[in-house]
Parts: sequence; C-alpha cells; structure tokens
Amino acid sequence: MSYGKRRRTGYDPASIQEYTFPIENIPRLSARDPEVYRLIQASRPVVISDSGLINSALKWNLGYLQENLGDGSFHVYGSKDNRFKYYDEKRAKQCKSFPKPVKRYEVSFNDFLKMLMEKKNTRERIYLQQMLNESVGQEIVKDYVDFNWDWVGRIQNEQGWGPLSSNLLLIGLEGNITPVHYDEQENFFSQISGYKRCLLFSPDQFENLYPHPVAHPCDRQSQVDFSKPDFERFPKFRNARAMEAIVGPGDVLYIPMYWWHQVESLKSLSPIDHKLRDFSTTTSSGSSGDIPPVTVSVNFWYRAAPLPATVKFPISAQQRVSVMRNIEKLLASALGSADEVGKLLSTMVDGRYNEE
Ligand code: FUM
Ligand code: FE
Repeated sequence: MSYGKRRRTGYDPASIQEYTFPIENIPRLSARDPEVYRLIQASRPVVISDSGLINSALKWNLGYLQENLGDGSFHVYGSKDNRFKYYDEKRAKQCKSFPKPVKRYEVSFNDFLKMLMEKKNTRERIYLQQMLNESVGQEIVKDYVDFNWDWVGRIQNEQGWGPLSSNLLLIGLEGNITPVHYDEQENFFSQISGYKRCLLFSPDQFENLYPHPVAHPCDRQSQVDFSKPDFERFPKFRNARAMEAIVGPGDVLYIPMYWWHQVESLKSLSPIDHKLRDFSTTTSSGSSGDIPPVTVSVNFWYRAAPLPATVKFPISAQQRVSVMRNIEKLLASALGSADEVGKLLSTMVDGRYNEE
C-alpha cells in the first residue's frame, strides 16, 4: 500500500501555490486494494488510480465534445480573478447588497469555445459547469453508459448511499480555482484531462474555516481566502491542516460529504490537441491553436446514507456539521429572519457556555 507521494509527472510544479497551512498526502491506491473500501467506509478521502470509472470519457477533448455534446445550453461562469466562488442565485436576489463573486452566462458549446478564444487576452476567466442531461448527443450517451457503473454501484450499495443525484461536467482554464467549500453529498470526483490539485480539510475543522451563515448566498463556502488569509478576522485558520491530492486523467478522488475542498486547475506540461473543427461563424475561424489549455472533470454526486436507527455517541464530525446547519435553519425560521440568528446565539452563549 502506498500512502503516496505528491504525483510528480504531467503538471508544472511551479503552478502549485504555497499556502500557510501544513499539507499531507491523500492516499493513492489501486481499486484492487481493500484499503480503498476501508477508507470510504470511514469517510476518509482516497484517490483511486485505476477504477476505470470514466475510461470511456478519456477521449473527451474539446473537438469531441463540440461534435457530441448536443445543442443544449451550458452554464459558463466568468470571474475577474481566478477564483470561482459559488453562490445561491435565489438568495442573492433577496439580498440586495450582496456583491456577486462571479457572473453566469448561458451559452451554446460553440459560444463557450469562442469565449475561450476571445477571453485569452482579457482579464475575465471562464469556467463551464454544467450538469450532464438528456440533451447530450448519442456518442456521449454511449460513453456514459460505458462508465464503470459496476464498480461505483458496488460501493454505493456497500455504503448504503442514496441514488446518484447528478453528474457535473467542469471545463476550466488552467489557473482557475474553486475556493474552499463543502458539499452535502458524497462525491466521486473524476479527472478526464489535465491536472487538478485538490486540498481537503476534515469536517472537524469547521471552526478553522469560518463558513458563511447558512442563510447567506455563499452558504457552505469558507470566508477565508487561502492566498491572503485575514488572521485577525479568522484567527483559528492558523490551526487549519490540509490533505492534498493531485489528480490526472483517469484518477477518481473520493470527497466524503461535508469534507472541505478547494480545487485548483494546474498547468499541464503537454497540453492536448483538441482537434476542433472550424466553428466560428463571425470573425476569425476557431482552431485548436487559438484555444488556451483547459482541464476537464466530472463529478458523481450521491445522496448520503440515511441516519442509522441508533445514533452512536459522541456523534461524528459530519453529524455535528449537520446538527449546526439544522439549528441555524430552525432559528432563522423561528425568529422570522436569518439576521436575528447571531444575536440570539450570542445571548444564549456569552458569559454562560463560553470557556474562559
Ligand atoms: O473546480 C472543481 O473541479 C470543483 C469541484 C467540486 O467542488 O466538487
Ligand atoms: Fe464541491
């Protein structure tokens, strides 16, 4: 068993940013290694190098996707810097003073390719993040059917997870960052092309990562920016410690529910030829040479296992996060406003439950 070193080939090590927290490696194992299943059972992250989960998608370069993704529309996010911080659009509408961290476009795949070419020389970066749906073409459907559903279905059954809820396709520029957040589902994060650095933090680091309030548009997102952490506002961030995996084509990273993760697209040492057909109807004709290097990934999100009939105490770090989320939601609803939650919690705690 190798509690592996940082993967060394394929990406430019200079594209790895230095941060303030210590980092250890996430184990990188073969799907044949029983340790994989012990780690998943224990809700611990693991990179599986040879599951074959998305082998049928390893040919998904931009030319193939252009031919076969179909003529649906795609969510493409634009950011003035390299960070793509998620926010809830409904909540953002209700909260007039909220400055939207990213802009959302809805475009055809060809328009996305044009944006990739045009944005090459502007400050705005873009990131396509689209759920795979029935509008995709026949070849993609075939590749999807050919995913290694036996392998992933076995794990889903063994773990008692609920159904697969969605598959998110992500196509981003090298250097793009999805800032640190947690999701409320189990995830098999699968890398198709290019390299990504995934930094994970266990759910027991909730207090180190200062998530926005649950009712905030950026619920589940940390307020801390790793590149310029504000230690005065977020002093416990000094205690944060990360686990890291660098994933490349064919790798699958298990990201357990409620585990914090930041995902960074690295610079590839040998960018791939996308074999695009001419697609521009207006200005210059698009060709592979005009397209900056991208990374391609697909998420497999599974609903969590139901709560066990008898809860074991002390409850797990994941269960604690769930309890905290529910208390915040309950108070917002009981008080009629999310703005009242902090005051009420302070009234309950200050001078009573606070440690000296
Ligand atoms: O950018 C990303 O690949 C993010 C993935 C995730 O948050 O699951
Ligand atoms: Fe995520």
